[in-house]
This record gives sequence, C-alpha cells and structure tokens, in this order.
Amino acid sequence: YGDFSQKIDYVFKVVLIGDSAVGKSQLLARFARNEFSVDSKATIGVEFQTKTLVIDQKTVKAQIWDTAGQERYRAVTSAYYRGAVGAMLVYDMTKRQSFDHIARWLDELRGHADKNIIIMLIGNKCDLASLRAVPIEDAKEFAERENLFFMETSALDSTNVETAFLTVLTEIY
Ligand code: GTP
Ligand code: MG
Repeated sequence: YGDFSQKIDYVFKVVLIGDSAVGKSQLLARFARNEFSVDSKATIGVEFQTKTLVIDQKTVKAQIWDTAGQERYRAVTSAYYRGAVGAMLVYDMTKRQSFDHIARWLDELRGHADKNIIIMLIGNKCDLASLRAVPIEDAKEFAERENLFFMETSALDSTNVETAFLTVLTEIY
C-alpha cells in the first residue's frame, strides 16, 4: 500500500481559533474525515488531526490543531501557537458577536504566532443564509485591512471547506 511507504516532504501545523460554537471542530471533522455531527460537544483542551495531501508533487502532512473557544477549557496558549504556519480564524456568520470578537482572536494570534503565518478568516455556517448576521462586505473589508484570506464555509454541507484548507496549505508551501 502506497500510504505505508509514503514519504512526507513537509509537515504543516495549522491552528483553528474563534469563539465557542462557531464550528471549528466540525470544520476539522469535515476536512479530515468528511464527517459532520449535529450534536458536537464543546472542545476541552486541545485536539488535533492530520491529513496527508499532495501539493505540487510534494507530500504534505497537514496537522490541524483545534482548541476550545471557551476560555475555561483552553490549554496553554503559547504551546498551541508554537510552530504554526497557518491559522483559520473562524466566526459564525449567523452570530454577530462571534465576528466582533475576531479582532481579539487576531491580536492573540499575532502576539503568539510566527509573523509569516498564513491566516484565513472564515465565516462558517453559510448553509444558514436566511439567518445571516454578518454582511459579507464587513468580513471582506476586515480581511483586506488585516491582510487575511477570506471565505464563507459550511461544515454541514461542505461548501468551501476543502478549498479553505487547501488555500492555506498551498500558500504556506
Ligand atoms: P468549541 O469547541 O466550544 O470552541 O466550539 P466549536 O467552534 O468547535 O463548535 P462545533 O464544531 O462543536 O459546532 C458547534 C455547533 O454548530 C454544533 O451543533 C455543530 O453541529 C454546529 N455547526 C458547525 N458547523 C456548522 C455549519 O457549517 N452549519 C450549521 N448549520 N451548523 C454547524
Ligand atoms: Mg470545538
């Protein structure tokens, strides 16, 4: 089996951050295993999953880290960001507050991560379009001002999940 003899050219650590319940863990489940759970439990501490992909004929192992959005469940912050070369900064497009908190998450990220880190702003739950609370223009404007990539995704129906992760991994590479 090819997988066993596969030589890994690069390992890229990517971190997920954002408020509780925005869908970080389900974005990871969708990307890594093509799974989704409606009754996803709040993350406690830190978890990670890997997915191996081929980018430009190189084998890249993406190591995606996921932590709790809730302060009381968060693990030591500096260890979480250490070595990260990409970040997904996630809000819920049906919850304005989760977007308003993005600036704080970005501050924390920039305070701890490498200055060359590739950052993708993600408006998740775009399947709930009728409940939109964050205009796409607001998010685009913020992303442009802060030099971030930006996409709206749905972990539920898979919209843009693979594209978002692949964009970050390709930019790192
Ligand atoms: P913490 O671990 O507490 O930080 O939360 P989280 O950001 O990991 O959220 P999680 O992935 O656990 O998802 C929270 C809830 O939102 C769950 O009920 C998910 O099923 C739901 N959810 C996640 N992504 C989507 C999505 O794209 N669309 C819809 N409709 N629901 C979603
Ligand atoms: Mg979680």
